[in-house]
Amino acid sequence: MKYHVGVISGDGIGPEIVNEAKKVLNAVGTKFDHDFEYEEILMGGCSIDATGVPLTDEAIGQAKAADAVLMGSIGGNTSTSPWYKLEPSLRPEAGLLKLRKSLNLFANLRPAYLYEDLKEACPLRDEIIGDGFDMVIMRELTGGLYFGERETKEVNGVMTATDTLTYSEEEIRRIAVKGFDIAMKRRKKVTSVDKANVLDSSRLWRKVVEDVAKDYPEVTYEHMLVDNCAMQLVKNPAQFDVILTENMFGDILSDEASMVTGSIGMLSSASMNDTKSGLYEPSHGSAPDIAGQDIANPIATILSAAMMLRYSFDLDKEADAVEAAVRQVLKDGYRTVDIMPQEDEKKPYFTQVGCSEMGDLIAGRV
Ligand code: IPM
Ligand code: MG
Repeated sequence: MKYHVGVISGDGIGPEIVNEAKKVLNAVGTKFDHDFEYEEILMGGCSIDATGVPLTDEAIGQAKAADAVLMGSIGGNTSTSPWYKLEPSLRPEAGLLKLRKSLNLFANLRPAYLYEDLKEACPLRDEIIGDGFDMVIMRELTGGLYFGERETKEVNGVMTATDTLTYSEEEIRRIAVKGFDIAMKRRKKVTSVDKANVLDSSRLWRKVVEDVAKDYPEVTYEHMLVDNCAMQLVKNPAQFDVILTENMFGDILSDEASMVTGSIGMLSSASMNDTKSGLYEPSHGSAPDIAGQDIANPIATILSAAMMLRYSFDLDKEADAVEAAVRQVLKDGYRTVDIMPQEDEKKPYFTQVGCSEMGDLIAGRV
């Protein structure tokens, strides 16, 4: 079968890591007899340089027409890059936000789990790690503070800035349904995270989640305040299966959860709407400081491509093959520098490889 994949290579390490994901997809194509064709879509800093804006209407059209979109990363160094001298709506990140809104990608799925072979990279103590942990964060992606009205103006001679956090019942319901659906395929537990002791939007969130929960009698669910959740993530991460939360809380908690695994270079993500299409990207950023050196870890992007196979194309066998190939490469002792053990006595057991070699090794094991 033929699949039309939109590819946003983006900025920083984006082009390198996307290249490796394409290598792995091509290996899947050869082995399972699929044809992946790629169309490059400009977004982020590279789009600003080429067109003056971070995302053109043409690029949105290309993304909409694709069967799914695979992305590397966008943006540069926020203190030194000229892109950050532009007004906010013209900066690289604005392109990503516009794409999320244009494709109605309201559901952002971010897995965070501990790899058995990378346990040592986890910053938590052994007794906290226990038998490991495996959670997904279901983050609402097109509402809340990110998309509410905002303004900066002078009030009584003082500069004053306002951002607004709005959620409608419908917006909460559709993400809650996604969260409970995914829980049904996992360990059947949902932790809905809010700040209902302070915010009206959170009180509505709670009410709607409780309502949705009635349709999922097999799923255990609980509410948790966001500050407590931040604490629980480092105290006892194994308690979480699905964390369901709004846009801003999800942004912050997903960074925390990925850091807790110790291997942010390994974590993928999917942004989905109500169609089969979606946007797949690593959870990490564009790492401009190491761009072009062939040392970035392409695994998060390769695993994002696996999510694309699974969720957009229903190619479960193929996704399994990619995930198994990643685990095998780790078992075989290959590491990019970010996941290489630091202790001298351990180093002889591992082989440090660059970005493109890591891609070759994984493609070879598909
Ligand atoms: C993310 C990023 C984005 C966000 C930025 C780049 C706008 O941090 O995908 O988590 O805040 O959503
Ligand atoms: Mg973020």
